Amino acid sequence: MTKPVLWITRKLSDATEARAARDYDVILNPEDRVFSADEIVAMSGKVDAILPCHSEVFSAEMAERLSDRVRIIANHSVGVDHCNLPALKARGIVVTNTPDVLSDATAEIALLLMLGAARRASEGDRLVRTGQWTSWSPSFMVGVQTTGKKLGIVGMGRVGLAVKKIVDGLGMEVHYANRRRLPPETEAGAIYHDSVDDLLGAVDVVSLNCPSTPETLNLMDTRRLALMKKGAILVNTARGNLIDEAALIDALKSGHLFAAGLDVFKTEPGGNPELAKLDNVFVLPHIGSATRETRDAMGFRALDNLDAFFAGKEPGDRLV
Ligand code: DGY
Repeated sequence: MTKPVLWITRKLSDATEARAARDYDVILNPEDRVFSADEIVAMSGKVDAILPCHSEVFSAEMAERLSDRVRIIANHSVGVDHCNLPALKARGIVVTNTPDVLSDATAEIALLLMLGAARRASEGDRLVRTGQWTSWSPSFMVGVQTTGKKLGIVGMGRVGLAVKKIVDGLGMEVHYANRRRLPPETEAGAIYHDSVDDLLGAVDVVSLNCPSTPETLNLMDTRRLALMKKGAILVNTARGNLIDEAALIDALKSGHLFAAGLDVFKTEPGGNPELAKLDNVFVLPHIGSATRETRDAMGFRALDNLDAFFAGKEPGDRLV
């Protein structure tokens, strides 16, 4: 029996690529090159399935241009803001993602960002590395303690819940804003706010864990940043689009916010050089899910979706 032709757009984990090569007629990208829109369109005429990352954009225009041959886009990501789902659905292309498997890894990075921002990790790291650590005193590098403080989670989905589980260990009081209130057993003591506006002034640290959609574009704008408590900390492991970065720079420069911890930016790769100049920002290059364990799990989850699809079954993570 001929195997379906699968194009894996980026270099994935060895275990993922080995499994894909066993079960598919697979086209790999060992150099991990980023393909242009025209190259993606050209490749789509040669394959039955694409396993992309969030780095490949399937806009409405791209959906129009894809070959009829492509039947499924099995994303290696939980976020699918790079895919125009209605347009792909209109083309009859099935789209899946990889939820669950990256929640803990992403929650770990949220914790790292929160602590890095609160304890001035970028500044301290730079001092030591550049040989500028020349004195010590009790007033040196004093940060903010998060133990026992209030954390507000915007978007209490899988990642938000994993963040809660971790910060429960720090004795933080968890608040959350979500489209719907969760059942008491899931909420597990977290305090619900029926709007983001209401949540912001109630907490010391805000963690963004909601998807990027047209509704959440620039969610944290000048007005909402002003609603945060003076001296609060903002953490973003979701998508850069959620924050108006110019407004955040103002809030950090004015001292309204103590610090921010950011793993995601409007422009990726690259980030925001103006933000990166600020000492009170702890930044990482979109590595929320970048652990060995999670990369394997994401690859396998994407392959599970493909296997189901080509076996004539419903893929577990089908979005359209
Ligand atoms: C995701 O899965 O959405 C991560 O941000 C990596 O793409």
